[in-house]
Amino acid sequence: MIRPGSTIGVLGGGQLGRMFAMAARRLGYRVHTLAPEHDTPTGQIADVEIEASYDDLDRIRAFARGVDVVTFEFENVPAAAAAAAEEHAIVRPNGRALEIAQHRVREKTFLTRLGLPVTPFVQAQSAGDLAAAVQRLGRPAVLKTAALGYDGKGQIRITDESDLAEAWHALAGREAILEAWIDLDRELSVIGARSVDGSFVCFDPIDNVHRRHILDVSSAPAQVASQIAAQAIDATRTVMDALDYVGVLCIEFFLTRDGRLLLNELAPRPHNSGHLTFDACRTSQFEQQVRAICGLPLGSPELLQPAAMANLLGDLWAAGEPNWGAALTLPDVKLHLYGKATPRPGRKMGHVTALATTAEIARSRVLEARAALGQQN
Ligand SMILES: Nc1ncnc2c1ncn2[C@@H]1O[C@H](COP(=O)(O)OP(=O)(O)OP(=O)(O)O)[C@@H](O)[C@H]1O
Ligand SMILES: [Mg+2]
Repeated sequence: MIRPGSTIGVLGGGQLGRMFAMAARRLGYRVHTLAPEHDTPTGQIADVEIEASYDDLDRIRAFARGVDVVTFEFENVPAAAAAAAEEHAIVRPNGRALEIAQHRVREKTFLTRLGLPVTPFVQAQSAGDLAAAVQRLGRPAVLKTAALGYDGKGQIRITDESDLAEAWHALAGREAILEAWIDLDRELSVIGARSVDGSFVCFDPIDNVHRRHILDVSSAPAQVASQIAAQAIDATRTVMDALDYVGVLCIEFFLTRDGRLLLNELAPRPHNSGHLTFDACRTSQFEQQVRAICGLPLGSPELLQPAAMANLLGDLWAAGEPNWGAALTLPDVKLHLYGKATPRPGRKMGHVTALATTAEIARSRVLEARAALGQQN
């Protein structure tokens, strides 16, 4: 067991690391963070902030020597950096989980081998491959970079009008994957935690609504049949066991209009859809991550009340500083801000969470709070 009082190292400096660091500090741990920027959301909460490139393996090694366990809040840490950290500290989750989740083709191939259903896909490494892939999957489809995509970046919809040469050109020769476009009923996520001894605890599925490929609103409990929920949880356990995973992992699912559950992607870390667990669950996803990587018993994932979360993107700043007072006067709404100095369109700046008697009411509360933030001061 890595006892309270020990030091946890976090590679990455964003809001996931920030909320992780808050949970870790509450349990009496020290937190060091390394990221290529200064005054990061995580760094503002950590005991020590190191500004270094993930490619600077000597700095990564020195960072690992100074901590008891290393984890990630940013999944695109290069494999070489994870390996360098592993020379000097325990690294959880392991490098293999990271390597699989970093690459859409590897990820889908791995899931398919486990017998889990994924979106139909074809790898594309050239313009010629793309034409053949469109032949196979039909239109509409979506072309994505195989690596380094997030919040819908590096994705191009292929419709009847699309020019394939142009689409290929837009990805600038990066390795890609073509996915069939799924007629979605809804999107779900499941966040699981697995400890060193293989014990597994899971939050119930969360409903997610995306806008322009970015998560917009999440709510729990998800409004799905219990047999779909059970299937999603089983799949999460299967994936985590297969990876001998230690930590928190999120799986994003598509539920098709004809009732099939498909795995969309893996996030080897706490997830935006789980932000509501901070206010609404007995143990948050961030505390669960601390417990899992430190070998502490996992906590209860019980949802204390139906809840919803709405993201606050930089767009909200378009007409000036949001009206904090208007949202803070709503009694069942909690405001979370990430300490980012510069709001940019599409940048995740914070979120609001509401608890209510039903998930539907909680959803309307967070939308109301977000609308209030947009009103003139
Ligand atoms: N094949 C598809 N069919 C239908 N919708 C899709 C498909 N692929 C992506 N989308 C939509 O775009 C969203 C983002 O896609 P995806 O999860 O692959 O991207 P990402 O850039 O990795 O996003 P994030 O890291 O924010 O989860 C999905 O949640 C879904 O709403
Ligand atoms: Mg996604």
